[in-house]
Amino acid sequence: MKDMTASILPSGQICYGGDWNPDQWPEETVTEDIALMKEAGVNLVSLAIFSWAKLEPEKGRYHFAWLRDIMDQCAEAGIYVDLATGTASPPVWIAREDRSSLPVDVHGTRLEFGSRQQYCPSSPLYRDRSRALARALAEEFGDHPALVMWHVNNEYGCHTLQCYCDNCEREFQEWLERKYQSIDELNDAWNTHFWAQKYTDFSQIHAPRDMPTFKNAAHELDYWRFSDAQLLRLYLAEVNELRSQTPSIPITTNFMGEFEGLDYWEWAQHVDIVSDDSYPDPALVGGAHEVAFTADLMRNLGGGKPFILMEQVTSAVQWRPQNTPKRPGQFALWSMQRVARGADGVLQFQWRQSPGGAETFHGAMVMHSGKRSRFWPEVTQLGRDLDAVSDVVGGRVEADVAIVVDWDAMRARKLSVGPIEAGESFAAARAWHRTLWERNVTCDLISRDSDLSGYRVVIVPEVFIDYPDLARRLEAAAEAGTQVVVAAPTGVVNESMRAILGGYLGSLADLLGVVVTDHAVRSPDVARWSKSDQAVFDHRVDRITRAVGVPGAQPHHALEVTSPALERALDTIGSPTPLMTSGMWGEYVQATQPASAATEPMWLNDEVEVIAQFSGRDGCDLAGWPAITRRQVGKGAAWYIATDLEAVSRDALLRVIGAYARVDTTGADLPDGIERVRRADITFYLNHSDRAVQLSGIVGRDLISGHQVSGHAVIAPRSTMAVTHTDD
Ligand code: GLA
Ligand code: ZN
Repeated sequence: MKDMTASILPSGQICYGGDWNPDQWPEETVTEDIALMKEAGVNLVSLAIFSWAKLEPEKGRYHFAWLRDIMDQCAEAGIYVDLATGTASPPVWIAREDRSSLPVDVHGTRLEFGSRQQYCPSSPLYRDRSRALARALAEEFGDHPALVMWHVNNEYGCHTLQCYCDNCEREFQEWLERKYQSIDELNDAWNTHFWAQKYTDFSQIHAPRDMPTFKNAAHELDYWRFSDAQLLRLYLAEVNELRSQTPSIPITTNFMGEFEGLDYWEWAQHVDIVSDDSYPDPALVGGAHEVAFTADLMRNLGGGKPFILMEQVTSAVQWRPQNTPKRPGQFALWSMQRVARGADGVLQFQWRQSPGGAETFHGAMVMHSGKRSRFWPEVTQLGRDLDAVSDVVGGRVEADVAIVVDWDAMRARKLSVGPIEAGESFAAARAWHRTLWERNVTCDLISRDSDLSGYRVVIVPEVFIDYPDLARRLEAAAEAGTQVVVAAPTGVVNESMRAILGGYLGSLADLLGVVVTDHAVRSPDVARWSKSDQAVFDHRVDRITRAVGVPGAQPHHALEVTSPALERALDTIGSPTPLMTSGMWGEYVQATQPASAATEPMWLNDEVEVIAQFSGRDGCDLAGWPAITRRQVGKGAAWYIATDLEAVSRDALLRVIGAYARVDTTGADLPDGIERVRRADITFYLNHSDRAVQLSGIVGRDLISGHQVSGHAVIAPRSTMAVTHTDD
């Protein structure tokens, strides 16, 4: 990533605006739009994202005059342009000229024209024409005064991530040959010796379309990686054209949060500014946390540099089965939340709500009802509020705690057949992040290659692939004083999905002082009582069955706490019994060098302390086996958690770890609903609750209201205070 100037706009303002699709409107509307944009404080629009059919109505015949006219109007009005390369939705003539440019799904069905993103990532025609269009646009508009940023394509992989056509299959074979060099290498890596899958030539390997039963997970994982690489290649082809014409204009492509399909750690290396599209559901109580999580992810993808929120909605989306609008104030609140966590831009999809087509009922800055919509005052107010906090532009967010998120490991976890189906992307990382967020502990989301120095706590949750290099660096961090926290299931397979033999955790075992010998998950969703009979068992007559214990049918594990510090933490939370709970994941943990017979639960050596153990309450077979361990390492420590802790347990444990690490947890004492984040010299207080909240001990100027605060302050429901510490 190149280091572009700290601010995207010459004015140094926070970017505000959205996708603008004026090609669907008559000229009068365009004129009105510009006037309304001025009223709303819009200073940046993303143009031409879906305009290919208008930009190149026939192959090689470009029609740019209309776009120039609009860009001129923008320049005159002081509105800057994030100009798209327009390649997200190829026009119909591409599909007509070459049907193989259309993608094929996993069932072998070719997907037709009439929606969007209908291109095969390996199509030579698509690749050539998209590159040519990017070049033509750069030649035409590269020196336009309104241009401040390039927006390449749109949401790569959103609809068509993996294409299973013959072209892709051939390119996959070549990709495999480059990766493995010899077919024997591949056979070993994929363990094709099982189920007679052995290949004698790369040309025999199919794209993993529908198969009779479970696929070879290594085959699939490589196909995911290949598909990711194909899209990255398309992106880079456009980028090369843009860079050669306009080396000083920053380039972005909009990411989609924790989207599993693209390894954004890799993609982020190739964008100048990270940008993100984010649509938390206002009907879910977890919406505010989702904002925080994705914002932290985007900030860290850019190595801590500011990012842009490229898309969100003012009101409601249209693509869910039910689409609840944001509540009054929530649009601004969630926008400020992103600014607080590192965004230098707040853009919406879209500027004006479409009059027709698939997104007719997707909200916009200008709704169908125009200025009479309840959202219009919120849109203009946010324009003013963002201006008021523009001092934050370029500012950094500091964190003492980091959580490792790794795309490849997440994909491996999802593709693994057993021991239990994976949840949403980065589910474990989100859970740990949420616990920290609830306590106002700012945290970074880092890659497995990130620099670990400077973090007091590093959490490694559910990193399914064993990475020896990460293990080495975690060890060094622990030696230097970091509390390293590893949570299951971690280090279970290698990068080719082959099981780690001799005990899971692999290269982390030495650091943690433990290995995992067996998994023991629960299956509460199995409702029937035996394989063959759906009948309900009746304890009055089924005298053998009623004596059978099935702890595996319980949805939770119970843990008994053995550490007094953890017991005190539970007590503080109001959970006075020394019991914790976790979910369906459990495992047998043993010391790397057991002091006694390995079959005994009390197996540990002096080096490893047991913090909590599985309880025997529900007849659990893990009773007495360690669930949480801690090993002192140099100036720090290494913790291992052999289960998926639930909210209270996670919170209690983090209190204990935080105390060891001397992490500042004063934010946890703020009133309910208040999120506090500091960015550069500004502390943001975000009130997510439905009530006005009184805060004390705040001194400084609230940039949003303009008021000086000395001591007490009241924040209205769903609103923000941005307090600057620098004296005026
Ligand atoms: C994505 C796309 C936009 C639009 C929105 C709707 O983010 O990039 O073009 O379809 O979804 O939410
Ligand atoms: Zn294809």
